[in-house]
Amino acid sequence: MSTRPTVIVLANEKGGTGKSTVAVHLAVALAAEGKRVRLLDLDQRQRTSARYIENRMAHARRHGLSLAMPEAAVVEAGADPAAAVAEGGADILVFDTPGRDSEEGRRALALADTLVTPINDSFVDFDLIGRVNPETFRVERPSFYAETVWKARQARARADGTTVDWVVLRNRLSTLEARNRRRVGNALLELAPRVGFRVVPGLAERVIYRELFPSGLTLLDLTHLGEPSMSHVAARAELRELLAALFPAETRRAAC
Ligand SMILES: Nc1ncnc2c1ncn2[C@@H]1O[C@H](COP(=O)(O)OP(=O)(O)O)[C@@H](O)[C@H]1O
Ligand SMILES: [Mg+2]
Repeated sequence: MSTRPTVIVLANEKGGTGKSTVAVHLAVALAAEGKRVRLLDLDQRQRTSARYIENRMAHARRHGLSLAMPEAAVVEAGADPAAAVAEGGADILVFDTPGRDSEEGRRALALADTLVTPINDSFVDFDLIGRVNPETFRVERPSFYAETVWKARQARARADGTTVDWVVLRNRLSTLEARNRRRVGNALLELAPRVGFRVVPGLAERVIYRELFPSGLTLLDLTHLGEPSMSHVAARAELRELLAALFPAETRRAAC
């Protein structure tokens, strides 16, 4: 008998926040742990995460490498993401969604056990989940995306009693903007208990994330990246910390 797979959804109604980058790294990390992972790309226009895995397969073939490989597919427009949940054959489904409101995105949100929302460390991105006072940077109220998620969680709780774990992840953290970083960090911590998300350790701004796409490699494949630099090693440590915070070891075992 097949049990329902664990569903992880990367979502934020904004482009360029790191959804696809995190989706791929997450899917590869979980596949490397021996899970059967299916990465489903709902962004039919950009297809970033599906293309990433295609590149990864081509790279592995070209160089005769055995790389941890999630299955990847694009969910075509109009198709119901719930079909992937019913299909079976996977322990974990990772949905990557487009950076805009979409029917498929909303349907995926309704299936999430874990919702991961990456945001760039900027009040422009923060504005989707909360409004801040322009003088004090204190949170005044949650905004539309927090309300969208709240409604999806209510619906899920009513449907099958599941409490959706909502995780906000700070991405592209800059070492140069300490004041902005602190302000965004404080605003997130203030908003978290009000709308019910967790803030996990984020990822620093690193050129390597932009360079890896053509080969489909991830920071978890450091051994295939030539001589790793200090920055690569630090980036991998950061990623591992993120994964551990997202999925404590017990839940990872339970999902298998
Ligand atoms: N931590 C990071 N450091 C540097 N560049 C990053 C980082 N995360 C993502 N990027 C880059 O930012 C851009 C947007 O990321 P992407 O994952 O495609 O976002 P989304 O899927 O939310 O639109 C890409 O060029 C990606 O390589
Ligand atoms: Mg994307």
